[in-house]
Amino acid sequence: MAEDKEFNRSRPYAYEVVGGTPLKGDIEISGSKNAALGIIAAAMMVDGPCTLENVPDISDVHVMMELCRSLGATIDQIDLHTYAIDPTTINTYKASGALVSRIRASYYLMGALLGRCHKASIRLPGGCNFGQRPIDLHLKAFQLMGARGARPTDIDSGIVNLNAEPLHGAKIYLDIVSVGATINAMLAACKAEGKTEIINAAKEPHIVDVANFLNSMGAKIKGAGTDLIKITGVPVLPGHFTYSIIPDQIEAGTYMVAAAVTGGDVTIHNLIPTHMEPLSAKMREMGYQIDEGDECIRVYKNSPDDEIWSTSVKTSPYPGFPTDLQPQTVVLLCTAEGQSRMHENVWQNRFQYVPELAKMGANINVYERIAWVNGIDKFRAARVEATDLRAGAALVCAALAAEGTSHITQAYRIDRGYEHIVSKLTALGATIKRVYVEEYTEDTEA
Ligand code: EPZ
Repeated sequence: MAEDKEFNRSRPYAYEVVGGTPLKGDIEISGSKNAALGIIAAAMMVDGPCTLENVPDISDVHVMMELCRSLGATIDQIDLHTYAIDPTTINTYKASGALVSRIRASYYLMGALLGRCHKASIRLPGGCNFGQRPIDLHLKAFQLMGARGARPTDIDSGIVNLNAEPLHGAKIYLDIVSVGATINAMLAACKAEGKTEIINAAKEPHIVDVANFLNSMGAKIKGAGTDLIKITGVPVLPGHFTYSIIPDQIEAGTYMVAAAVTGGDVTIHNLIPTHMEPLSAKMREMGYQIDEGDECIRVYKNSPDDEIWSTSVKTSPYPGFPTDLQPQTVVLLCTAEGQSRMHENVWQNRFQYVPELAKMGANINVYERIAWVNGIDKFRAARVEATDLRAGAALVCAALAAEGTSHITQAYRIDRGYEHIVSKLTALGATIKRVYVEEYTEDTEA
């Protein structure tokens, strides 16, 4: 059952959180947002039907499904997390409507439609605002594979018009490690003539998941999860397969932080512990107990009086510390003794939430890409704005730890990427609900 079915999410709303209760109990992690978005796009290239399982029930996925339907794909929702997808009914290579700019991952349709139709006409994507988010590396990869229209000067009124006759394999060196460019190049290469090598590829778990999905559909991809991915193009991807999406590494990490910052004791199930290692290692260093099982992690403190130590963290591409856990981890660092350091090494401007966290008592000084975090005794309740998806999740963590009632506005940003967060936190003893608020800002993102 979808959460809060009666609640009208097209009205402006906030999360109302009454904090101060340690979270306790067990929680299940949903399918990975970023894997699902890549895989749904990849499904658009397949030459037969397929079924996707463990698809998260989040608004970014709903937008992506709508976008694919607008291309002509037949998509039936079998249950909350399972979709039957038949892309053989696709009748256009154009996606230029408003839906495209509501999510970042719509850029994967460039690679997918180039692979399927050798043409793609796609509006520039939206995205969470944390500085410049160029797609030059994606376009460079398509150009190397024979696409015309891939130079930045070819972009016409915000629409990228790509045409590759023929689409051929290429040696693609990414001078910055990019998740999106790696997946986009991999998608197009699956159906290109000949061999492609992606050098300095990103290695995130969801890259491996997209590659595993494509291989199960008949693609020939080797090396996903390393920095050299080799793809031999095939003329047909037969499909006719059921694929289950991996658990969400970032959702799991967010609940690890929520458990820790409230002084709770939570076991998080249906995750892959190795994906969590960068966070688990830092949390152990800070003094938290992290017990790993086969597919679960328990987070707790040995004694409520145990001291939590400061540390220093630097985000970097996988297997480094994930930038998508940076804001949540800063919340945790706020509760440590002394001064901690968070270095944001992936995005130019991902500390926009810091003034909001300061309203809750945080003592943080940001200098360029480094946040110096001074430990505080307690967060205090406040009305704050979710400036983006992960920032919003971080503010929820702080609100859960604060005594009193907080409101996190622009909460729809959080619902883009966290399945049933209200029910999941309520089951752990939190007091949280969605409430309508007055203000409204229309924007586009992902
Ligand atoms: C993906 O974004 C994720 N989004 C982001 O998750 C995540 O923060 C990011 O990867 C890094 O892990 C999706 O998967 C939909 P990148 P992406 O290309 O692919 C530079 C979340 O909260 N760059 O790996 O857009 C770029 O500016 C989100 O779930 C170029 O210079 O990120 C950045 O500094 C938000 N040129 C760095 O590379 C390009 O053409 C990494 O970006 C592309 C990227």
